[in-house]
Amino acid sequence: MLRDDAMKGMAVVITGGGTGLGRAMAEQCLRLGARVCITSRKAEALERAAGEMAALGEVITMPCDVRDAEQVDRLRDAVLERFGRVDALVNNAAGNFISPTERLSSKAFQTIIDIVLMGTVNCTLAFGKHWIAQGERDRVILNVVTTYAWTGSGYVVPSACAKAGVLAMTRSLAAEWGRYGIRSNAVAPGPFPTKGAWSRLMPGELMEQFDMRKRVPLGRLGEHQELADLVTFLLSPYSAYINGEVVTIDGGEWLKGAGQFNLLEQIEPGMWDAIEAMVRGAKGS
Ligand code: HXC
Ligand code: NAP
Repeated sequence: MLRDDAMKGMAVVITGGGTGLGRAMAEQCLRLGARVCITSRKAEALERAAGEMAALGEVITMPCDVRDAEQVDRLRDAVLERFGRVDALVNNAAGNFISPTERLSSKAFQTIIDIVLMGTVNCTLAFGKHWIAQGERDRVILNVVTTYAWTGSGYVVPSACAKAGVLAMTRSLAAEWGRYGIRSNAVAPGPFPTKGAWSRLMPGELMEQFDMRKRVPLGRLGEHQELADLVTFLLSPYSAYINGEVVTIDGGEWLKGAGQFNLLEQIEPGMWDAIEAMVRGAKGS
């Protein structure tokens, strides 16, 4: 989508960058000329992913649990030592699982809040404070939320609460840190198949039972490259005036669920003559 060197000279940190959507984002950043640090808890998985991506460009790995602010500070220092700069932070790491809320322990709820909300807070503070202290401008924070950050959703309530918090922080810091030349934006993906998400949200036969494609007006799931293109645009200087925005990339999924009359798509087209006659007949009643 962007020209080959659109991110040349940039150094990007992507949490959860060794798997799923984070990995697709990392690969596209490399293709566009950026240097990339992928980070998550599992050092081996990161090494494997980095080895497979190495042909695309300079990628380094740093194990870090984003729940632990001290580990995140060490991550920042180590990346700065290796790259000499960090231009963009992608808060992509997440934890999630489906469960009726009444089955959750306080610890279960806390676990998700810690990864998604506090992990994003820890990384944002670590890099944001550094950029502000050094007077470094043209920096970008990109947060990965989802559409239930504003609609809410049953059965993933800790995640919905955490993502809503991340979205509030995205918008808040767009206003507060814009003066420092730091942009804060978010993307809200709909259903994009990944092993991490699907194994926890659509396990076993649930995938066939609840075909996610039927929820999407475009009738299909998202492709990783489509999200990676959007993310790299939002990280690149081409989006330099976009600040505080959340860009939805869900094929129209959440609006289909929201519009009261969208369920009328179930009506056979041949029925509409009779329905129109009934509606017109109601005139004056
Ligand atoms: C109820 C559960 C549970 C479940 C865990 N717990 N799984 N409770 N139902 N299915 C409880 C545990 O019993 C424990 O509470 C507490 O949660 C912590 O569990 P641990 O296993 O000790 O946590 P941890 O090892 O830190 O693992 C975190 C995790 C795990 C979130 C549970 O799944 C993980 O590491 N996930 C990372 C990757 C991931 O989730 N990716 C998907 C992102 S998809 P007690 O009280 O018993 O001690 C996504 C999509 C969003 O975000 C939008 C989709 C459209
Ligand atoms: P994924 O592959 O499971 O990605 C989650 C990543 O987060 C993993 O790499 C995991 O690596 C890392 N992680 C988890 N806990 C961590 C911690 N405490 N510290 C550091 N890293 C941690 O799932 P995905 O589908 O690609 O999800 C990526 C992002 O997209 C998430 O923010 C998710 O909410 C969002 N999203 C996904 C979808 C979808 O349909 N797939 C839809 C909407 C939004 P380790 O286990 O090695 O730590």
